[in-house]
Amino acid sequence: MLLVAQAAVSVCHASGVIRPGDPWADNRGQRIQAHGGGITFWNGVYYWFGEDRRPSNDPEKRYVSCYSSRDLVHWKFRRQVLALSDPEHLGPHWVLERPKVYPNAGTHRFVLYAHLDDAHYKFARVMVAVSDRIDGDYRYVKSFRPLGEESRDIGQFIDDDGSAYLIFESRPTGGFFIARLTGDYMNVEKTAFIHAPLEGGALVHVGNLYYVVGSHMTGWRPNPNVYATATSLAGSWSEFKDLAPPEANNYQSQSTMLVKVAGTKKTTVIFMGDIWKPSALWDSRYLWMPLDVNGDEMKLPPPQTWQLDVKTGEASTIVEVD
Ligand code: GAL
Repeated sequence: MLLVAQAAVSVCHASGVIRPGDPWADNRGQRIQAHGGGITFWNGVYYWFGEDRRPSNDPEKRYVSCYSSRDLVHWKFRRQVLALSDPEHLGPHWVLERPKVYPNAGTHRFVLYAHLDDAHYKFARVMVAVSDRIDGDYRYVKSFRPLGEESRDIGQFIDDDGSAYLIFESRPTGGFFIARLTGDYMNVEKTAFIHAPLEGGALVHVGNLYYVVGSHMTGWRPNPNVYATATSLAGSWSEFKDLAPPEANNYQSQSTMLVKVAGTKKTTVIFMGDIWKPSALWDSRYLWMPLDVNGDEMKLPPPQTWQLDVKTGEASTIVEVD
């Protein structure tokens, strides 16, 4: 099953394309601030939430920004949906990372999860904030340790049947959890534990297989990301394999989410990663590439300019000629 069209098209100065690693501007011409982010597809629109690290932010607060798009290429800045003061006396250099937003059809509320921590990453909790509008002001509700476990990097997964999951890395256990959200999305229950010390966890369901992707734990420094497959979330999961040749070092990026675009002709899975710049986080870049998915094989190809048709689901790489 070959899911991605890799036909290369030659064009001059292409527009409407994704250039992995290049600065990415919003509708105002400003750099998109949505690091460690996630995509929420709701009412036919894609919303991109992520860490807003712009230098003009109040250094005492932590920010989440929201952008919207119908084609995953052109992004309209909606607003900073969270501008939070230290909610748990975490102290200087406290941390809010990897925000993800879940729409709850039952409560008609939007529920934001993020990794909340102190400067030394010892607090190790998730935080929850809610809003009545997807791009509204999110109100801080609480922080907790999911399943009573330490939780650092989080990831988001919504299955084809609408069930919603939090993925969280839990160092003392030597692995990470996939935990289904409870009915109101304010808590989680255990679904699966994968005994592999990985973070940046991301999941996608294509055909009869689940694919999980994660990075090794090297902080902001990139490393070769890996993936495993299973026919059900509870497992059993295959051995982890490299997503790209190890010497490519994941093209300097770290996983944050896998986005499935199921079109009329094809299903494309987008690897959504961050190219971190620790000394200027606002300048961190995004590496989005369509993955080559073939049965239980998944490959991240070398970054190249590409375009996507969200209606047909077709992705094609582009050779730009001057
Ligand atoms: C990475 C993690 C990032 C951030 C960073 C801090 O491993 O994926 O989200 O927490 O460490 O060093």
